[in-house]
Amino acid sequence: MFSVKRLVESNNLSSIPSNYICQTNIQDYSIVLNETEIIPTIDFSQLISSNPMERSMAIQKLGNACRDWGFFMLINHGVSETLRDEVLRTSQCFFDLPSEEKKEYISEKLFDPIRCGTSFNLKVDKTLYWRDYLKCYVHPQFDAPSKPPGFSETLEEYTTKSREVIGELLKGISLSLSLEENYIHNMMNVDSGSQLLVINYYPPCPKPELVMGLPAHTDHGLLTLLMQNEHSGLQIEHNGKWIPVNPVPNSFLINTGDHLEIITNGKYKSIVHRAVVMNKKAARISVGTAHGPTLDTIVTPAPELLSKDNPSAYRGITYRDYLQLQQSRELARNSCLDYIR
Ligand code: SIN
Ligand code: FE2
Repeated sequence: MFSVKRLVESNNLSSIPSNYICQTNIQDYSIVLNETEIIPTIDFSQLISSNPMERSMAIQKLGNACRDWGFFMLINHGVSETLRDEVLRTSQCFFDLPSEEKKEYISEKLFDPIRCGTSFNLKVDKTLYWRDYLKCYVHPQFDAPSKPPGFSETLEEYTTKSREVIGELLKGISLSLSLEENYIHNMMNVDSGSQLLVINYYPPCPKPELVMGLPAHTDHGLLTLLMQNEHSGLQIEHNGKWIPVNPVPNSFLINTGDHLEIITNGKYKSIVHRAVVMNKKAARISVGTAHGPTLDTIVTPAPELLSKDNPSAYRGITYRDYLQLQQSRELARNSCLDYIR
């Protein structure tokens, strides 16, 4: 398989191939500030608390985080460190498999249950990104590679747990919008909805400042739940600045997606983020799960949130068509939301 990992391993790279050199990265590195400490933190145990006061305060905090940031760290989420570590360990083993063994998973077809590849989409990328990936649809039907041993079982357990966490967050988000607790669940068919697992592998790079792991973009779906190994690289855009994210140990990083922006009619904006490469010696792994409606759900702003002064700002589109739209375009800020506004 063609991959950045192989490129790095097979050459004694001292210079970066020109098709990977990314101008944007060089230009806007200067505006990166370190404001990590002010990124909101949500305590999951408070969100599911049986104490109504504690829960309602956590819901308010959650709503503010979605409205003001579109991003937060989630602590006390109940997913064990052992399981998270096992996901990262077996993911590394998957990328370490010989190319021959990964060949059967190489695909550029958007709805193939398992897809292995590099960059974002080789058909549309003008610059190549310093990233290999494995994507699997894990809900409503679970699919994952059958090797290395234990990988699939670990992913199934992990993605089931992450779906439970996201389910509770979506209930809290409905309540934060003064909607009924299951409003988003019902409107988006969340219980039978689509869950896409994306494992990103960013190999070490001799000149990391010249390349980009993933350029500025927003995620499709309602929410994305992300964790990473010990290496950072995620940056979020907030008030016109890039903010590097250094996660609280054992936390999940949660970001709002395009479909939460659509149903809230723009109240909870989908956050622009990117993954930079910072490491000359070690690989960074991040594991994301994107949670959306069923593929046939037509997503529109929630009628309950509209008024004469706040008319619908987005036209309806099925989740399937939206995914196809994103795949047909370069990964870029607002590339799809602008299309349906
Ligand atoms: C992503 O945006 O999908 C990945 C972000 C990361 O690697 O931190
Ligand atoms: Fe993303």
